Amino acid sequence: MGRTGQDGLTASAIAHSNIALAKYWGKRDSRLNIPAVGSISITLDALSTETAVSFSPDLQADELVLNGGSAPAQKASRVLDLIRERAGIDLAARVVSNNNFPTGAGLASSASGLAALAVAAAAAAGLELSSRELSIAARRGSASAARSIFGGFAELHSGSAADGSDSFAEQLMPAEDWPLSVVVAITQTEPKSVSSTEGMLSTSGSSPFYDAWVESAPAALDELRAAVLARDLEKTGALTERSCLAMHSLMFTTSPPLIYWNPATVAVIRRVTELRRDGIEGYFTIDAGPQVKIICEPDRAEQISASVAELPGVLQTITTRLGPAARLVQSP
Ligand code: PMV
Repeated sequence: MGRTGQDGLTASAIAHSNIALAKYWGKRDSRLNIPAVGSISITLDALSTETAVSFSPDLQADELVLNGGSAPAQKASRVLDLIRERAGIDLAARVVSNNNFPTGAGLASSASGLAALAVAAAAAAGLELSSRELSIAARRGSASAARSIFGGFAELHSGSAADGSDSFAEQLMPAEDWPLSVVVAITQTEPKSVSSTEGMLSTSGSSPFYDAWVESAPAALDELRAAVLARDLEKTGALTERSCLAMHSLMFTTSPPLIYWNPATVAVIRRVTELRRDGIEGYFTIDAGPQVKIICEPDRAEQISASVAELPGVLQTITTRLGPAARLVQSP
């Protein structure tokens, strides 16, 4: 599968971004990139990445071209190493990755990009891996990418095995079973100053609340999973906001503090709360950055989008439905 001739093994894949309703923050193993707590996410249809992988004897080292520019290949290499090991090949790869969403919109692309990479690299190396194995490979690059292997609702387990073999994502529910919408409010286009990896290390080493976060995570996850499976928006929304605010409380109490928000982030939070009071139901969540994602029923998305778009500092809004699983786009 994916062979393009004697000088290379090539394949391409598409994966969609995701946002966590129950967040993870912190690693139980940094080298193997294993999260300290489980998480539950939704995959987003409108935000996707297409990634092509070519293994070639002509390359000295892995190369990454991201949205047309050369970029550090470190995370990609962690995924490629695992694929090379499984396939028993010793070739470097060229990875060409393009996001379908505006470059520089401040939207993270590591989840979609590294999930697409895992799918494409496995095919290019001639491997037929299960979704679980692909999820483990994607997790090596970026833990949130493990969830983007799946469409709809996905859960990533932290597991307990030292080698990370039980830290994979699986689908909780397909998108069709609860077709929600998400409004993304973009409030800043510059990349974040502290990466998630760096931020998590700093938090686990300095926030007095970190141990409590890890201890309370399994119960919070059980509660959210039950609310999702019951398709209870009020409960799912309340628990989503609580997980987001708990994670940002960890960030605020890190030394030096991690404050990813800006004034528009807070304005959107307030507006979502006011809209809810007026009967327009939406719930916010925020990752390691200033953008706000609002989860709602599809028939509320337009009203919510129009309302947050008028706030000062909101530069753009994108509305999306839940997305499908990662998949190969080419198998020559
Ligand atoms: O796995 P990373 O490096 O993409 O970090 C993800 C961290 C959060 O987005 C803040 C939380 C999450 O569970 O996605």
